[in-house]
Amino acid sequence: MDNRPIGVFDSGLGGLTAVRELRRILPGEDIVFFGDTGRVPYGSRSPHIIKEYATQCMDFLEKQDVKMILVACGTVSSVLGEEMKKRTVPCMGVLESTVKAAVSATKNKNIGLIATAATVASGSYEKLTAKLLPEAKFTGKACPLFVPLVENGYFAAGCEVTRLVAKDYLSAFEGKDIDTLILGCTHYPLLYNLIDSVTEHKLNLIDSGKEAALGAKALLEERDMLSGTRKIGGMKFFVTDKEEGFAKLGKEFLGEELSDVTRLEIEEL
Ligand code: DGL
Repeated sequence: MDNRPIGVFDSGLGGLTAVRELRRILPGEDIVFFGDTGRVPYGSRSPHIIKEYATQCMDFLEKQDVKMILVACGTVSSVLGEEMKKRTVPCMGVLESTVKAAVSATKNKNIGLIATAATVASGSYEKLTAKLLPEAKFTGKACPLFVPLVENGYFAAGCEVTRLVAKDYLSAFEGKDIDTLILGCTHYPLLYNLIDSVTEHKLNLIDSGKEAALGAKALLEERDMLSGTRKIGGMKFFVTDKEEGFAKLGKEFLGEELSDVTRLEIEEL
């Protein structure tokens, strides 16, 4: 048993998709969330910059005495890979649980991925899919406009601007006969209903935020590190840009007030 909080890290607010699921499946856990909102998006940056930023943020989370770090960011998970295992607390990304879910959902073994440019370029999802299901056919598509749209609140299913962008991006899968689409960036589950509607409810959509939270639960169970309390866990949020916008969108998304949001200066990290 371990009553310390779970640390969740994302480059922005997308990691709240994992927090939402953690609140549902592990309501007794305290959560410390770090969103590097002042430097998002990571997905269009080079691997060495992503590593540098991510290391600063995770060092900060470790100083908050978290019992594990869930890297709820497809880009950081893809770029850091095995390096996440070198931290002093258990640290896991989104890839493994997400790819496992995709591999068990597909019937025709044609899997698609939408993610940031850095994630698609890393080939991380493709390599892991090939390892778990060697016969799979895999198509990846970078969708860089999705992150700024989500960060600015344009994620409702009826949002015309985002629908147009989604139609354009998803046309990359025409003729590929995919039956399963990985939402490989934790911002994209906020677009779940919109993408489901644009793809006419025909695809298994794999939510990387949700799958990552399930993976974190499994890790804590395996190591006997779940919290022993019965009360509802608390949440603390740290961001590197204005608190208000984050708290407003976060509330809309989590359905809970984000009462404890602190802005950090990047130079202090
Ligand atoms: N959180 C990132 C991811 O899941 C998307 C945002 C970014 O590009 O930083 O890939």
